Order: sequence, then structure tokens, then C-alpha cells
Amino acid sequence: MFAESGQSRPVCKLIQRNCRWKVPKCRVIAVLGTRPEAIKLALVIAEFRRRSEEFETAVIHTGQHRSMLDHALKIFKIKPDFDLDVMRPNQTLSSLTGRVLDTVENACHRFEPNIVLVQGDTTTAFASALAAYYCKISVGHIEAGLRSGDIYNPFPEEANRRLASVMTEIHFAPTALSRDNLLAEGVPAEKIVVTGNTVVDTLRALSDLPHSWEGTPLAGIPRDDGRRLVLVTSHRRESLGTDQQNMCLALKDLVKKHPDIRVIYPVHMNPNVRSTVNGLLQDTERIHLTEPLGYIDFVSLLRSCFLVLTDSGGIQEEAPTFRKPVLVLRKVTERPEASQFGMARIIGMSREAIVAEADRLLTDTDAYQDMSEGENPYGDGHSSERIVEAVSRWHQKKTPLLEADKQFKLPPRPHPRRRSSDLAPVAARAVSAGKE
Ligand code: UD1
Ligand code: UDP
Repeated sequence: MFAESGQSRPVCKLIQRNCRWKVPKCRVIAVLGTRPEAIKLALVIAEFRRRSEEFETAVIHTGQHRSMLDHALKIFKIKPDFDLDVMRPNQTLSSLTGRVLDTVENACHRFEPNIVLVQGDTTTAFASALAAYYCKISVGHIEAGLRSGDIYNPFPEEANRRLASVMTEIHFAPTALSRDNLLAEGVPAEKIVVTGNTVVDTLRALSDLPHSWEGTPLAGIPRDDGRRLVLVTSHRRESLGTDQQNMCLALKDLVKKHPDIRVIYPVHMNPNVRSTVNGLLQDTERIHLTEPLGYIDFVSLLRSCFLVLTDSGGIQEEAPTFRKPVLVLRKVTERPEASQFGMARIIGMSREAIVAEADRLLTDTDAYQDMSEGENPYGDGHSSERIVEAVSRWHQKKTPLLEADKQFKLPPRPHPRRRSSDLAPVAARAVSAGKE
């Protein structure tokens, strides 16, 4: 009764205010080092900074990538608090890991965070988690629980993310499937939050911006000659060499066979990728090799293309937003949701398979339509908010980390559109009925 009277309110407010003073700000480090980490962490960092009453946030840029990442940082207006400059030309995994470990540990000692957030499966993510663990600082793993089941595919990413899991305190699993992978490995359910993939947040925030190809590496590529655009990217270490060569030969076959397509291929900066791709594809008619694109340019290209061929993790997650069919240039994927939804196919790297699968989508309207239906199964644009809310609750020792109804749910599976061939008998019946 007394608590309901107006008199008690000022006292309650005073207590609440005092309580707020007593909870010190949560000190968060977000670590990024490669292009996809910057793209996927951009809105998470923005959300932490928006809630600056609760959080003190520092960004570490390990510098695993340089030009490809600095480009993304500029777009998202992220100024790293620590810039560690670890990249070397043609770097080895061991030397890279050592440099990240050393420099991130140093930054942790200086900033003294409550939690270190890492994203995905890169060497930056794994080695930063290890550095935090050595300093006995909690790790939050964003994009946790993806598994291909084969530690050499993709290499070294499958091992990197498994190793990161062992040291993680909060697992931000993008989908129910990734949560289930973690549960199967014995991770306690109360340490997992299903958030959706943050790449969809970034894509939604930027994809409506007006954009022109003028002044970008895409300038000069004809867009209005009626030809369909096939977007290609490839950079995985396990595919360097023969697989990359096969893929290049398949692209040559495809442009020869289909005079109505253009291939646009922004080439990754890894010198091993460049030597193969440039060596085999330079000066091929209707194959346009470009420098890596800025994110907004890339998204504009993704929007306007007909079909995507890629081994990229991030692009597999982005393409369904624009309902672009993806042929995945890998033997296995740790992101099976799009293929389960019928929006992607895992086709490997053989020349024959690439030509046959692309050929089918370029010639068979029904097959194409079947792959361009549905909502993006990876996220709904609210992943960053879920992550930051869960960190806030963790810091205040609240449970659960996020209520079940606030976690990300898969959209309904698409119903395949009625094929034109299915409709033909219906149309024929209608015509003959009209004649009777
Ligand atoms: C890395 C990640 C991979 C991620 C990919 C995203 C590891 C082991 N690999 O692969 O998981 O999918 O990034 O693109 O963490 N280079 C430049 N400038 C740059 C970036 C790279 O010159 O801005 C060149 C350098 O010679 C560098 C080489 O590319 O040594 C390879 O870079 P590295 O980060 O080791 O591997 P990626 O293949 O880029
Ligand atoms: N991307 C980009 N420019 C490019 C190619 C890709 O901005 O020329 C973006 C793409 O939209 C996606 C991310 O980079 O968000 C994927 O990076 P990458 O393929 O290098 O890494 P992965 O996702 O395979 O780890």
C-alpha cells in the first residue's frame, strides 16, 4: 500500500539514481582487423557508443588488413583507439598470430576492459580472444557457433572459430543452427544469445543510399547494354592454386557461351589470388577485373547483378537480402541457411560444375526464380541492439542474457513461386474453357 502512494516515489528515484552510480560503466573493447570484421562490427560499435552512459568503448584495429579495411573504417566513421599495424606482405599465419597476440595483449593491459568482443573466424578474432584469455578478461564472440565440420575447410577459419569458442564467456550465435552447434559441443544454454548476423544491420543501414559508379573502380563498365551482370569474388586460402585456376577457366567458358553476360570480379588483395586471376583473366572480353570495391560500391553492384559466384562468407549472408541467387564456390559451408532456404547452392570449384550450375541459372527461368524467393535467413537488422543489450545485462549480472522472445528467429521458409511450366497446363485449360 505504502509503496503505491505518491510519497514513496522520490525515495525510490533516489535509490535508483544511487544504484546507477554504483554500477560502473562497462568497459568494452571491440577488435577488428579485416574487411568483413569492420563491416560486421560497424553498427555494434555505433550502438555501444549510442549507449555511452553505460559503456566506455575502445576499438582495436589490429591492421591485419590495411587498405581493404581502412576504406571500410572511413565509410563507417570508426577511428580506432589502438591501431596495431600487424600486416606484412604475403604474411604467414603463425607470424600474423604472434603479432596480433602480442599487440592486443598490450592494448588490453592499457585499457583494462570488462569484456573483449571479437567477430567471426579470422586470425585477428582467434588471437585476440587468446590475448584476452591470457589477461583473464571475458570474451564475447560475435558470429559464434558456425561449423563446417571440417577443420581444413575453410582453412584456417574453422579451427579459429572453434578455438575462440573455448575461451568465450558470451556466445552471440547468429542463428538457431549456430546455437545448436554450440549446445552440441557442451556450451551452456545460458551463455548463448541468438542475435542474427550483424551484416544485415549494416546492409540495411547503407543499402538505400543514392549511388553512382562514376569515380569508382566500376566506372566505364557498361550497364545499359542489356547484358546480365555476374558478380564473382574468391579469396579462400584452401582454394589458392588449382581450384582458383579452374574457377578462372570456368568464367572464360561462361562468357564464351553466353554473349549476353558480363562478369565483374573485384579481386582480393592477397598476392596469391591476384597472380592467378590476373594471369588467366586479364584482357578477357566481358570479364572486368577491378580493385576491391568500397562497401557502398560493392553493395550497389550486388543489387544490380543477376547472379553471384563467391566463396565469401559475408557475401553469402548479404545476397539473400536482394534475392540474388548465390553459387557457393566451396566444398562445404558453415552458413547452410541460404541453401536450406533454396537461395544458394554449394557447387565446389570444379570447372565443369561451375559452368553447368551457372549455365542452368542463365538459361532456365524457373530454376532462377526458385532461387530468388524469400527473406534473408541470416538476420533482421536488429542484431547489434541484441548484442549490446545482452552485454549490458551480463555486466549487471542479470539473467537471462536476453529474453527468448527478443532473440532472432528465422523468417518462414520461402514457398517456391509457381513455375511458368506449372502454369502452362493451367493456362491451356483456361484457354480451352474459354472456347467452350
Ligand atoms: C583474411 C582472413 C579470412 C577472411 C578474409 C577477408 C585469416 C587467416 N584470414 O584472409 O578469414 O575471410 O581476410 O577478406 O584471418 N593484403 C593487402 N592489403 C589488404 C589486405 C590484404 O595487401 O588490405 C594482402 C597482404 O599481402 C596479406 C595478404 O593479402 O599478407 C593476405 O591477407 P590475410 O589477412 O593474411 O588473409 P586473407 O586472405 O585476406
Ligand atoms: N566486400 C566489399 N568489397 C569488395 C568485396 C567484398 O566491400 O570488393 C564486402 C562484402 O560486401 C562483404 C565483405 O566484404 O560484406 C566480405 O569480405 P570477404 O569476402 O573479404 O571476407 P569473408 O566474408 O569471406 O570473410
